Amino acid sequence: GTVAALIPAAGSGTRLGLGPKAFVEVRGKSLLGRSVEALRPLVDEVVVALPDGLALPPGVEARAIVGGVTRQDSVERLLRATSAEYVLIHDAARPFVPENVVLDLLEAVHETGAATVALPLADTLVREGRKGDWGDLTPREGLRAVQTPQAFQRELILNAHAQAVADGFAGTDDAGLVARLGGRVRLVPGDARLFKVTTPGDLALAEALAAVWDG
Ligand code: CTP
Ligand code: MG
Repeated sequence: GTVAALIPAAGSGTRLGLGPKAFVEVRGKSLLGRSVEALRPLVDEVVVALPDGLALPPGVEARAIVGGVTRQDSVERLLRATSAEYVLIHDAARPFVPENVVLDLLEAVHETGAATVALPLADTLVREGRKGDWGDLTPREGLRAVQTPQAFQRELILNAHAQAVADGFAGTDDAGLVARLGGRVRLVPGDARLFKVTTPGDLALAEALAAVWDG
């Protein structure tokens, strides 16, 4: 079936503090441009959700729509803007997308209808207790950090979004909307390079990685 890459890029980048984050450049290329470039060769079409009033950065080959107030709104709009059978949903703020991750997701989604990358954790996990002290230790075994891209049958994720709206449920990703309804979501191994550029420190990391990535 046909596959559309859907890229929410309509956020304001408050934590980074450099204006709409998708437009921020790393070694001369916008975060959005990097995400589009990585996905475009692997899909049939690319649709991007942008902040109202902004146009695609020069040279970015995609179809653009206006995003919503939240990431979830932006993704729902993207889902309604394509008729592809499958969708790959990917944050513009994760500019380094290894090809093998996308291929793994597309294989998995044909089996289960929903799949996401998920990364094992390296650090010890603890819930903060009173007065900023150590609270409950959380065994990290079996825990995963959920990243994007995530892949879905479009009808399945569209229904999950509609149900979330009906329930007033605000999620932080799309796979979680399927899982909360009891739907199966396959986990495929994530990649540290898929980290989300969120704070100024992440930008320094992205600059360093881009030097290697761009060759
Ligand atoms: N996003 C979106 N529409 C929104 C909010 C976020 O399309 N209304 C997108 C962002 O552009 C980003 C992804 O969702 O690619 C993940 O969001 P996040 O990292 O939180 O980006 P921002 O919302 O821009 O950053 P901040 O929360 O610091 O303002
Ligand atoms: Mg945000």
